[in-house]
Amino acid sequence: MICAINMLLPFKHLTSTKQLTRDDTDAILKVSKEMEEVLKKGGDDRLAGKILACLFYEPSTRTRLSFESAMHRLGGDVLSAVGFQFSSLYKGETIEDTITVMNEYADIITMRHPEGGSADKAASVSEVPFINAGDGPRQHPTQALLDLYTIQKEKGSVDGTHITMVGDLLYGRTVHSLSFLLGLYDNMRFTFVSPKELKMSEKVTSFLTEKGINYTEVEDIEDGLDADVLYMTRVQKERFADQSEYERLKLKYVLTADMLKGKDCTIMHPLPRVGEIDTSVDALPNAAYFREAGNGVIVRMALLCMLLDAV
Ligand code: CP
Repeated sequence: MICAINMLLPFKHLTSTKQLTRDDTDAILKVSKEMEEVLKKGGDDRLAGKILACLFYEPSTRTRLSFESAMHRLGGDVLSAVGFQFSSLYKGETIEDTITVMNEYADIITMRHPEGGSADKAASVSEVPFINAGDGPRQHPTQALLDLYTIQKEKGSVDGTHITMVGDLLYGRTVHSLSFLLGLYDNMRFTFVSPKELKMSEKVTSFLTEKGINYTEVEDIEDGLDADVLYMTRVQKERFADQSEYERLKLKYVLTADMLKGKDCTIMHPLPRVGEIDTSVDALPNAAYFREAGNGVIVRMALLCMLLDAV
């Protein structure tokens, strides 16, 4: 087993990247690096006897399964509830009651729910650690942390990064969470590329303005390709009341290998992609989105250990 470094987090629940300090992210990145080594050796059993409840009331492939993989790699067990219609929320049970009951069944809980603010409701009643796995358009903190780990690993450092975020910057919770997190780093620069209907949430731009961090908003993706990191996103179909509006906007930006000739930006995407990165990009050495998804296991192993006092 890797030697313990006893660097725990100063909070019980992780609901938002806005609660994190630079000391917290430094600690999470350090433990994640350790977990990468643990994973290379096939895992260990430091979470034996612990149970993770995975409550997913919105679709997920990566977040749910990488949480489950992380728990299994550390010797723990998983209870999984998938689909709103198969849970008692469908019968009218409150989130608070569901979480109170889960406290009787599990040692740590993660939940994805379509309602912004659902994570705060869950955390407000949970006696065991609670991790937000995505609450509507609001936050997806574990995605942001694995994105941070990916940037550090791919580029060597996070400070001084110029990141371009492309696509649905209004409803995309990953770009909101990541922007708040990157705001903890020095000499950052942001370029936001979106149609005017999907401009970056005012919550993020006012945060950056308050911190004196430089950002530019443009509509043409060509104006954002000279960055260190190009963070593509899909247009969030599930957040549109008018599906014809979604159809009109969904493929405004399609990144191809030809567009990246002579560029050395690292290409990231939280996935799933639905056409906005052409498969011609996949073979490029700087296409990092599948490695990024793999980092989800490592970072979630770190968070589970840290919140369960098993570092
Ligand atoms: N990136 C992400 O949250 O993917 P899933 O929706 O598959 O969990």
